[in-house]
Amino acid sequence: MEIVILKNADAVAKKGAQLLTELIRQKSNAILGLATGRTPIALYEQLIGIYRTGEISFAEVSTFNLDEYLGIDEDDDQSYRAFMNAAFFDHIDIDIRNTYMPFCKEGENPRTFGLGFENEILCHGGIDLQILGIGGNGHIGFNEPASSLKSRTRVKALTQRTLQDNKHLFDENEHQPRLAMTMGIATILDARKIILLATGSGKAEAVQKMVEGPLSSMCPASALQLHQHVSILLDEKAAAKLQNQEYYLWVYEQNETLRKQFGSFYNI
Ligand code: PGA
Repeated sequence: MEIVILKNADAVAKKGAQLLTELIRQKSNAILGLATGRTPIALYEQLIGIYRTGEISFAEVSTFNLDEYLGIDEDDDQSYRAFMNAAFFDHIDIDIRNTYMPFCKEGENPRTFGLGFENEILCHGGIDLQILGIGGNGHIGFNEPASSLKSRTRVKALTQRTLQDNKHLFDENEHQPRLAMTMGIATILDARKIILLATGSGKAEAVQKMVEGPLSSMCPASALQLHQHVSILLDEKAAAKLQNQEYYLWVYEQNETLRKQFGSFYNI
C-alpha cells in the first residue's frame, strides 16, 4: 500500500484525478471501476474540468460501478445510476452504453445477475483502475463487516451504521433501501490498480484499521493489504489516527523520486 497524506480534500481529489488522467492518456480505452458517495464527487468535478480542457477523452472508456441499490428503479432519483449520470457521465463524452451499473431488475435472479456482471467485467479484459471510498465501518463498495474476503458480485444487507450514514440522502417519506447489489471483495482485488480516497475525521478510525490493523473481514478494506498496487489518498484529518505517518510521507517522497527517474511502478 502506498499511503499518500495530503493537506485537504481538494488536494486528494486533484491527486486522484491526476492518476486517472495519466491512465487514460496511456490507454484511451481504459476500463474504470467507479464509486458513488460524497467523497468521489470532488474527483469527478476535477475530471470534468480536465476533460473540458481537451486533455483527455472518455469516448473509448468503459466503466463498471461498485454497487447499486436493490429494489429501486434505475430511473429513480435515488439510484446510483442517477447519481453517476448527474455527477459525471452527463458532463463527459463517454458512451452511456459503456457505463455498467450492477442494477438487478425487479424479478431478476440476483445470483444470475451477479454472475453476468462478473462475466461482463472479464469480457472487457478486467478493470484497469478501481476507485474506492471507505465507509466509517470499513466497508468498500457495500461489502459490510464480516463479508467474505473471497466474495463476488452479490446482494448484501446494509448495516445499521451504513443506513444511518446515508440517511441524510433520503427525504423522510422516501424509501431507503436496505439491500444492495455490490461487487465482492475478490472482484475489487482483481483490478490491476486501486485508488482509495478518504477525507475527513469521520474516516480516521476506519483508515487506521485498514492500513495498520490486522487483515480481517471485520474491516473489509483491510483486504486491500493483499493487493500489489494500491494508493490510499488521504487528507490530514482522515490520516490523523495512523501511527506511522512520518514513515508514509518519507516513503511517498522516495517513490516520487524513483517515479521521476524510472516512470510508474504500475504497467497496464
Ligand atoms: P462517502 O461513502 O464517500 O459518502 O463517505 C464512502 C463509502 O461508503 O464507500
